[in-house]
Amino acid sequence: MADLVPAPAHCSADTAGRTRIGAGTALEARPGTEGVARWLRATVGAATGLPLPEADGREDRLVLSIEADLPPEGYRLVTDGRPARIQGGSAAGVFWGAQTFRQLLGPDAFRRAPLRPGRDWELPRLTVEDAPRFGWRGLMLDVARHFMPKEGVLRYLDLMAAHKLNVFHFHLTDDQGWRIEIERYPRLTEVASWRARTRFGHRASPLWEEKPHGGHYTRDDIREIVAYAAERHITVVPEIDVPGHSQAAIAAYPELGNADVVDTSALTVWDDWGISANVLSPGDATLRFYEGVFEEVLELFPSEFVHVGGDECRKDQWRLSPAAKARIADLGLADEDELQAWFIGHFGTWLAERGRRLIGWDEILEGGLAPGAAVSSWRGYGGGVAAARAGHDVVMCPEQYVYLDHRQAPGDDEPVPIGFVRTLEDVYRFEPVPAELTGEEARHVLGTQANLWTEVMEDSARVDYQAFPRLAALAEVAWSRLPAPADRDFADFERRMAAHYRRLDALGVGYRPPTGPRPWQRRPGVPGRPIDGPPPNR
Ligand code: ACM
Repeated sequence: MADLVPAPAHCSADTAGRTRIGAGTALEARPGTEGVARWLRATVGAATGLPLPEADGREDRLVLSIEADLPPEGYRLVTDGRPARIQGGSAAGVFWGAQTFRQLLGPDAFRRAPLRPGRDWELPRLTVEDAPRFGWRGLMLDVARHFMPKEGVLRYLDLMAAHKLNVFHFHLTDDQGWRIEIERYPRLTEVASWRARTRFGHRASPLWEEKPHGGHYTRDDIREIVAYAAERHITVVPEIDVPGHSQAAIAAYPELGNADVVDTSALTVWDDWGISANVLSPGDATLRFYEGVFEEVLELFPSEFVHVGGDECRKDQWRLSPAAKARIADLGLADEDELQAWFIGHFGTWLAERGRRLIGWDEILEGGLAPGAAVSSWRGYGGGVAAARAGHDVVMCPEQYVYLDHRQAPGDDEPVPIGFVRTLEDVYRFEPVPAELTGEEARHVLGTQANLWTEVMEDSARVDYQAFPRLAALAEVAWSRLPAPADRDFADFERRMAAHYRRLDALGVGYRPPTGPRPWQRRPGVPGRPIDGPPPNR
């Protein structure tokens, strides 16, 4: 398999000899592949120092083309003939083939400048035929709990592309911060994007960092991120969380909260971890406000899906609120759960009228879900199974397997020991399609994604540590047609990872080494919230 990660569907054995790529090698981009050629020149060109000039009829060339016989994201990479070829069913397929090409060149192809300018590069002589198992191969990044400056986000898009991941779920708002400029509501960035201080460690930690934390992306930053992702065939799915996880927005615009229950004008952007009781009021003014937010979000993000959160909405305030009770009565609803379903349903219809589809965490199933809406199944498989059986599309991302904030080894050495132990092997043996689904129901499983919640990750180095190497395992689960979990060849994955760690080193990724954290990755004395025992499947 030439040590490829994720593993390709088919790879011929190396034939004798090597294919040379050098200063004389041209790059021929047939129609529709110009963007991939641009990426190759910018990325592999920078690493190798090779000019990769336009083709002029010479035999020594790499040909990029779109071929109708291949599936849209599939590709064929041929290095055992002249000229070398990367063919794809679409530009996306050619791009994924280019990722394989880069891996075959060796780890130094992942650097930003050549170590020895002028050297020739060699590839094994082989043919790879490959296509992904799932169309949704994602990473969710929480930039609300800890802001990741734009440069870091662009770097993560590069890391995703290198692993053939194609959906970036961008968690932009939460109780602890609002990260996207909304022109008509300036206080969302002036006020809601900053909190006064941050608890250092997880919920029970007595340690505080007593300095403001915050930041946001301007509209142009978002445009740049979306365009950068699109060049890498990655779709950015924005998440604006309603009606829970909204304290930051309420701190900026107190009328959004349940002002008949609490003095919302006294609220600040939350400085603690957990689930805030301060949720949106279900009044018309709140709906109009968020329609305004989503209008600007739709202008910036072309993705079909728009994520509205919907998770962990505490109903305490609604139970006490005369306005919420009146709303429930007016609408003829049974209870607060149905009120939440109505709230989400409003935005489901609103998005559908604009040609988009709503996706939300699996709590949105409670109280009924609008046709066409999709579910991110995070509390185990149960929500995903129920959604698929009801005809809804599902992204399987159960906390028990693919929450990469959870610690990745037992013992006291993990920097912030939260959650269940989820090792690299656990993630590798994660199966996104539950066995109890029929073939028809299973078609609703669009794919899978890893979720990176950042309460305990204050910078990119911490994110790297939690994400890698497990994100490489998730990428293989999402891309490759692996056998049933118990039959997966983890030893082979580990063998290929030995080569992949050299690529991650060249990329400057601060992954968790197989032997445990490096000294600077440890953080003794920072309290966490370990959960012992096997993970439940709710
Ligand atoms: C979640 O982890 N609350 C979606």
